[in-house]
Amino acid sequence: MIKVGIIGVGTVGTSVAQILKDNADVISARAGVDIVVKSGVVKDLNKDRGLDIKLTDNVDDILNDEEIDIVVELMGGVEEPFEIVKKALKNGKAVVTANKALLAYHRYELQDIAQDIAFEYEASVAGGIPIINALRDGLSANHIESIKGIMNGTSNYMLTEMVQNGVNYDDVLKRAQELGYAEADPTFDVGGYDAAHKLLILASIAYGIDAKPEDILIEGIENVSKEDVEFANEFGYAIKLLGIAKKDANMVELRVHASMISKDEMIAKIDGVMNGISVVGDKVGETLYYGPGAGGDATASAVVANIIDIARSGKSKPMLGFDKPMERGLILNPALD
Ligand code: NAP
Ligand code: HSE
Repeated sequence: MIKVGIIGVGTVGTSVAQILKDNADVISARAGVDIVVKSGVVKDLNKDRGLDIKLTDNVDDILNDEEIDIVVELMGGVEEPFEIVKKALKNGKAVVTANKALLAYHRYELQDIAQDIAFEYEASVAGGIPIINALRDGLSANHIESIKGIMNGTSNYMLTEMVQNGVNYDDVLKRAQELGYAEADPTFDVGGYDAAHKLLILASIAYGIDAKPEDILIEGIENVSKEDVEFANEFGYAIKLLGIAKKDANMVELRVHASMISKDEMIAKIDGVMNGISVVGDKVGETLYYGPGAGGDATASAVVANIIDIARSGKSKPMLGFDKPMERGLILNPALD
């Protein structure tokens, strides 16, 4: 039996525990072993989460529990989870996280600490879409020419609702928060930072880039009004927040900003909380990935897939595109524009 400890039993953590219970039959068949949640960490022990797992507000109850094989970090933030994940890995526990902000700052340090211990993060980019698996494994024979797409569900949901239902910016942001799509601080969503975190993770896998959010161009949708999206719509365009990585010779351009896209283009038709990402490889050509980019169950689907994979193989896959520190940063990363 594999025992899991969940650090952060909120929107995603609750769904992870529920999926492991609801789908225990297929999960144990696929993993070749039963997987159970032993305990979870929360801030507020009085909140009812509708789960029958043991809860604690002391993270060391999980990190020092010798029975726990896999630690799932779903608390959010950067420095606090960094210390927790480091400690979990040093204690020999496999780690799964959906925390893209953590990875945007500390992905290479964590990869170095993990070494052969499994450290997985599929849910950190594009919620339920297995884009990391696709990029790291399915497209590994290719030089990646570009990665471009909608990487934030909250902002896409907001832009869609503003044009289709005439909802104003503040009301639709509040609704995205209620639906569990938005970050704890929604500035990350509407300011483009969350999309940038995801773009940096993908760029690490594709190009070995060791950049931080501060190094790239990031613009959000804070200045896009209901009138702007309606006006664009009248002229045959959709406004979408895009993350873009484009390779040219030995340079990679990384940027996040809103774009007007002709409604004839496939990406313009991606509405609501859905994400859609195009990856162009030099041998395969263009590939497209589409699906729910946020929300408890969709995100937890990817988290649980990582847990199953670790339970099945027990092994670590190379996390990022370039393992050796010497090879990092060979590709220049100018914030063009
Ligand atoms: P959330 O609903 O706010 O849940 C966070 C959980 O962590 C809560 O249970 C909270 O406890 C607990 N927590 C926070 N700080 C803590 C602390 N210092 N000590 C103990 N417990 C603490 O967040 P979420 O939406 O599930 O997101 C979790 C992570 O997944 C984030 O990194 C987020 O970026 C990522 N993610 C989210 C989605 C999504 O659609 N929501 C999608 C992909 C990735 P209380 O419940 O007691 O407050
Ligand atoms: N807040 C994020 C989004 C969650 O809306 O895309 C998924 O990463």
